[in-house]
Formats: sequence, structure tokens, C-alpha cells
Amino acid sequence: MWKKIVLGIVLVIVLGITAVLGTLTFRRPTLVPPSNVKVAGTPEQVARGKYLFHAVSVCADCHSVLDMSRFGGPVVEGGLGKGKVMPEEMGLPGTIVASNLTSDKETGVADWTDGELIRAIRDGIGRDRRALFPLMPYSEYRHLSDSDVEAIVAYIRTLPAASNRLPPTKISFPVNLLIQGAPQPAGRIPEPDRSRPEAYGKYLVKVAGCQFCHTPVENEEPIPGKEFSGGHVFPMDKQYSVVSANLTPHEATGTGRWSEQQFLDKFYQYKDYVENGSPQVPLKENTIMPWLNYARMEEADLKAIFAYLKTVPAIENAVETKPGR
Ligand code: HEC
Ligand code: HEC
Repeated sequence: MWKKIVLGIVLVIVLGITAVLGTLTFRRPTLVPPSNVKVAGTPEQVARGKYLFHAVSVCADCHSVLDMSRFGGPVVEGGLGKGKVMPEEMGLPGTIVASNLTSDKETGVADWTDGELIRAIRDGIGRDRRALFPLMPYSEYRHLSDSDVEAIVAYIRTLPAASNRLPPTKISFPVNLLIQGAPQPAGRIPEPDRSRPEAYGKYLVKVAGCQFCHTPVENEEPIPGKEFSGGHVFPMDKQYSVVSANLTPHEATGTGRWSEQQFLDKFYQYKDYVENGSPQVPLKENTIMPWLNYARMEEADLKAIFAYLKTVPAIENAVETKPGR
């Protein structure tokens, strides 16, 4: 995918359109100053934030040290929120580092303001005003309501300090230039519509990343008109990939024949793993679908997601989720 971009860029240079490169080089992300909001950190906010951090927006997955020798990659003891260098197998352009979100003074976010955290999460701007690499799903978190993002910050503040010094993110050329347009100021986001399950489900599939992972991509961009039809490929190692399933209500290739109960069972079958630990599996049988996180999702929320998925256009796309095994 990136190869195509590289080739494209090389062509541009060959054609001598240096002006384009010049403009790119000096392009900077759209920035607004961080807000000066002060998150109160009420018990309700912390509880809501904890739920979103673990079970819905799954921040815990990327910003913690995981044990990928076990099904679903549970967080290792003491690894919560400590950050990590994202695995090389993901085929990333450079060294991409999910930051330490704990309240450690030296290596965590203790000194960040609430506004700086919120700007990073929703706008995609780092504390140092840098465009964050969009593996950090700010294109989805942009939709988080003000009260939900504040709740997440309230919970982050409670993460016990864990010292973990990580290298800085280093994004290779030309991707470092190409991502400059990705961050966008989110502005103020009102509370989502909770009056109908379909409406709330639409909010959840955004902020939970379902839409992102279950939509096929071309040049790292979701293909318009193919939303939720699956086929987004994720390398597990050099040999094996997992491919996201078709979640549209297509009868034969999607979720058209599933009952709500079957949908819930897909998730809640892993509750036992959440509570008692998950079994060891070879990497090729493991998955990046965050089952252990979503198994903690409230029933009403999973039902809302299912209700919303029933309303999206059915797309025929037969997916083999674990090809070549
Ligand atoms: C799919 C993986 C992934 C998920 C899920 C994820 N992050 Fe990130 N996050 C990253 C990566 C990678 C970076 C670093 C990007 C960079 O340095 O360019 C990052 C950066 C950040 C930063 C900015 C750090 C800085 O140096 O400026 C914050 C704050 C943050 N994430 C918080 C969160 C929160 C809160 C959530 C959940 C709502 C979350 N992340 C979910 C991967 C993820
Ligand atoms: C990080 C990427 C990622 C995210 C986020 C994600 N999925 Fe998945 N999902 C996958 C992959 C890959 C598979 C196929 C492998 C597997 O089944 O574990 C999958 C499989 C599934 C399946 C199983 C389909 C079947 O036929 O058994 C369901 C249901 C599902 N996802 C629903 C969801 C929902 C709902 C959300 C949001 C709450 C979501 N996914 C978020 C990557 C993701």
C-alpha cells in the first residue's frame, strides 16, 4: 500500500514538480491551542472513562504491554497504560510508539494538561504540536463527545505511575509529510443521541473502532461505499494475517442471518477469558479483534451496535478471516 504512495511521490519528483514537494515539506497540521478545560475527575467520570478505555475505545490495547502468546492478547501484569513500540510485523513506516499514558512524572503524562490530552485524542496533535501517526485512531475518536473524552482523561489520571522510557516516534519519508493533513480540530462535540438504539449504535461503532477495522482500505484510506463489508487485512507476523469479517446485513456473506442473541454470544463467549485468563495459542490462531475488551461491553451497547448494523447497506463480500491456516 505504502509502496504505491512512494511510487507516486517518485513520479512527482521525476516530473520535476518540485513545487509540490516544497509545499508538502512546509505543510503543518491544522492546529488549535489545547482547551483550558479542567476535568473534575468525579467517580462517575472515572467509571465512565474506565469503561471506554477498556471496553469500548480500547485504548488499553495499544497503550499497554500485551501477551500475544494468549488468545486476544491480555494485558501483562503491570503493563497497563505503559505504552510500547508498536510491533514491527504491522509493517509500519518507521518506529511508531504508543505513549506511556500513566501518571509517571518522567515518562508518562503527569505534566500534560487535560486540554493537551484531549487535543491528542480527538485532534491528533501531540503535546509537541506534531501530527500524530494515524494508527492512533483520532479519525474515529474525533467523534467522542466532550463528556466522554473528559471521562477518558479522568480515568487516565488514575492509572498508577509506571516508569517506561520509550524512544520517540520516527515516521519515515514520505509518510511523515503525507500525514500532515490528517489531524483536524474536533471542536465541541455534543452528547450522542441515546433516544434510539440505532442512533447510539452509530456513535459506538465509530468510537469503538468497528467501522475502522471492518471497512476495507486502499492506500490506508477506507474505501467509500464499502463500510463494514470487512476484508481489511492485518498482518500477525510475516506469514499470517487476519482479515476483518463482513458486518453488513448481507444474508450469505454478512450478519443477515444472525439473531441478536447470536451476536451477543460471539462477544460474551470470552467473558470467562476476561475473568480467569485466556489460554495460550500459537500466533497464527490469535487475532487482533479486541474480543477480551468488548466482552466487557454492556449488553445494551452491544445491542445498540447490532441494531445499527442492521440499518447499513448489505454488501456481498465473502471473507476468509484466517486465510491459509
Ligand atoms: C490502534 C492503536 C491505538 C489505540 C486503540 C489508541 N492509541 Fe493512542 N496512540 C497510538 C500510537 C501509535 C500513538 C503515537 C502516535 C505518534 O507518536 O505519532 C498514540 C498516541 C497517543 C497520545 C499522544 C501522545 C503524544 O506523544 O503526543 C495520546 C494522549 C493517546 N494516544 C491516548 C489514547 C487514548 C486515550 C486512547 C483511547 C481513547 C488511545 N490512545 C487509543 C496508538 C493507539
Ligand atoms: C483492530 C481491528 C478490529 C476492531 C477494532 C474490531 N474488529 Fe471485529 N474483527 C476484526 C478481525 C481481524 C476479525 C476476524 C478475526 C476474528 O474473528 O477474530 C474480526 C471479527 C469480528 C466478528 C466475528 C465475525 C464472525 O463471523 O464470527 C465480529 C462479530 C466482529 N468482529 C464485530 C466487531 C464489532 C462490533 C466491533 C466494534 C465494537 C469490532 N468488531 C471491532 C478486527 C477488528
